Amino acid sequence: RAESAEATASVAINPSIKKESDKVVDTVVVGELAKPLTAYCRCWRSGTFPLCDGSHVKHNKATGDNVGPLLLKK
Ligand code: FES
Repeated sequence: RAESAEATASVAINPSIKKESDKVVDTVVVGELAKPLTAYCRCWRSGTFPLCDGSHVKHNKATGDNVGPLLLKK
C-alpha cells in the first residue's frame, strides 16, 4: 500500500460503534472474567463490541488488513 501518513490519519477506524460518544472506553476487571479466555475486538467491526465476534476475518479478507482480537486469560 502506498498511502501517505496524512491520508491514513484522516480516516476514522471506527465505522459504527458508539458514535454518539467522543471517545469509546471500555473497562474490564480481569479478576471477574467469566471465562478462562475472552477475546476483545480491536478491529472495530464486531457486532458484540467490545467482545470479538470474528468479524475481523471478513474485514481482513476484504481489505488485506491483519487485525485480530486482544485475548485475556483468567
Ligand atoms: Fe474485531 Fe475480532 S471482531 S477483532
